Amino acid sequence: MKRTIAIACDHGGYALKEEIKSRFSDVDWNDLGCDSTDSVDYPDFGKKMADAIATGEAPQGVLICGTGIGISIEANRNPAVRCGLCTDTTMARLTRQHNDANVLALGARIVGGELAFDIVDVFLNTEFEGGRHQKRIDKLS
Ligand code: RB5
Repeated sequence: MKRTIAIACDHGGYALKEEIKSRFSDVDWNDLGCDSTDSVDYPDFGKKMADAIATGEAPQGVLICGTGIGISIEANRNPAVRCGLCTDTTMARLTRQHNDANVLALGARIVGGELAFDIVDVFLNTEFEGGRHQKRIDKLS
């Protein structure tokens, strides 16, 4: 069965969002927009993602804006979200192993296609290590 993963972006992330959906065709992408390169506001899409995670509509998600910064700031305002902004595969591995990140943020103007694909692949296929990391997550407020 395909895994359901939410995905959302602003106009700066639209092209990369479409590329990621094509590249990972084994994923059931729950696309929360945006739907074109027309200018939009990243907080609207960070919030859509946060709501999808908080309600259980999707267990994990991928967010993309120009830098990944603004959209991750918005998503992390919701206590249900642990969004890790990653610029390499080591960060993607560690944000899953140590932070149990449920949302990955990417900056489309920062990471190119192949690197972005590798980051998504690592994020989606790395497990949380638990143990000492769980009590730290429990302290997040
Ligand atoms: C949009 O121009 C840009 O500000 C946005 O994609 C993002 O980089 C914000 O953090």
